[in-house]
Amino acid sequence: MSLLAKHSQIKEDRSNIITLGVLAKEAKKKNPKVVNATIGMLYDEEGKLFTFKSVDRALLDLTPDEKYAYSSTPGNTEYHEALKRWVFREHYDEILSNMKCSVIATPGGSGAISNTFSNYLNPDDIVLLPEYMWGNYKQFAYENFAKYTTYSMFDGEKFNLKSLKQKINEVKQSRNRVVLVINDPCHNPTGYTMSYEEWVEVIDSINQATEDGTPFVLLYDMAYIDYDKRGFDATRKNIALFQKLNKSVLTILAFSGSKTLALYGLRVGAQIALSKSEEVIKEFFSANKFSSRAKWSTTTNLGMNLVSKVLTNPKYLKDFEKELESASQMLIRRANAFLESAKDVDLKALPFSCGFFITIPCSHPEAVYQKLVERDIHIIPLDGVLRVTIAAITEEECKRLPCEIKSVMNIYELK
Ligand SMILES: Cc1ncc(COP(=O)(O)O)c(C=O)c1O
Repeated sequence: MSLLAKHSQIKEDRSNIITLGVLAKEAKKKNPKVVNATIGMLYDEEGKLFTFKSVDRALLDLTPDEKYAYSSTPGNTEYHEALKRWVFREHYDEILSNMKCSVIATPGGSGAISNTFSNYLNPDDIVLLPEYMWGNYKQFAYENFAKYTTYSMFDGEKFNLKSLKQKINEVKQSRNRVVLVINDPCHNPTGYTMSYEEWVEVIDSINQATEDGTPFVLLYDMAYIDYDKRGFDATRKNIALFQKLNKSVLTILAFSGSKTLALYGLRVGAQIALSKSEEVIKEFFSANKFSSRAKWSTTTNLGMNLVSKVLTNPKYLKDFEKELESASQMLIRRANAFLESAKDVDLKALPFSCGFFITIPCSHPEAVYQKLVERDIHIIPLDGVLRVTIAAITEEECKRLPCEIKSVMNIYELK
């Protein structure tokens, strides 16, 4: 007999990333030669966790109050303002004059996704997820009694708009509402990054689906936005497109302080909500504030104040932007090293542009994972693919890995 409530009896952590990440970390502790390409954190070329010096400096400048006092549940206005300025950049005035906006602080992007699923999915509603995905989305859905379905991501090397449209219509027909997750740019796990034109088409499709006033929530998971190799202008130009969305659409941008500021363990993030409807934004604020209070009470004050300081005070901001640029360059060099070696050994990757991960289609991911571990290489096996976190390994390791992966894959693929 189980004491667990019915819904909790089949809770099984299906996201193997943290578990396999811990195993890899343990292995590396024993043997520094181990390649740990598992967890989504950025490491430098010496194999140390990458930290922003500007963030460290700002941390030393926080007062005891800023660090240790309770914050309010939705987070303070300085934090909200800092994020709006950072995320909208030169579109700040335009977006805020055309749209209603509200922010709720959350523990990381995870908190933003969790709150969104809690408040916009009825039991048995279906959330629309990408075919390749950060597996935790499925757990957020289950936790909130919701189901999920997926849209195909690729049509050749391009975004599969046809599949997205079809799935939007299916979900709309069966539930009379749509909650869609788009993780872009630097999609986890593929590194795919949608072009401006692809975003225009997605916005048009959402508008077509909501011409009749169908409620639609677009959860824009922008965890890796600041590692887009095209830079701030391109990513913010895409965000400005949300202004074109119909009145029955609510866009929630999930901001991750873990990724943008490399503050993984500090648990700081936000839901940034945009809509043309004042009522939608008012109810967003009150329902999500309620959920935050019920789940975690407040986000870390230290985290929020640190983010606000770095993103608003020129003393830190200028250096932070420079450091971010050099972190992106480091990722580009690693990706190039990996993809060039992959080409040499004819190892195919899913369409990649930039970011923390490269993904390889693979018919026996578990077996290949096990064999690679025997060779002191740790990657993440997912459904039909292998995810390699290039953010966590050196350029030299990026150069070496494709040949190792290919030779292990050959053992199984040729069978
Ligand atoms: C695609 C994606 N979204 C959101 C997150 C959430 O990260 P955090 O909660 O640390 O901000 C992650 C973390 O790995 C991620 O990969």
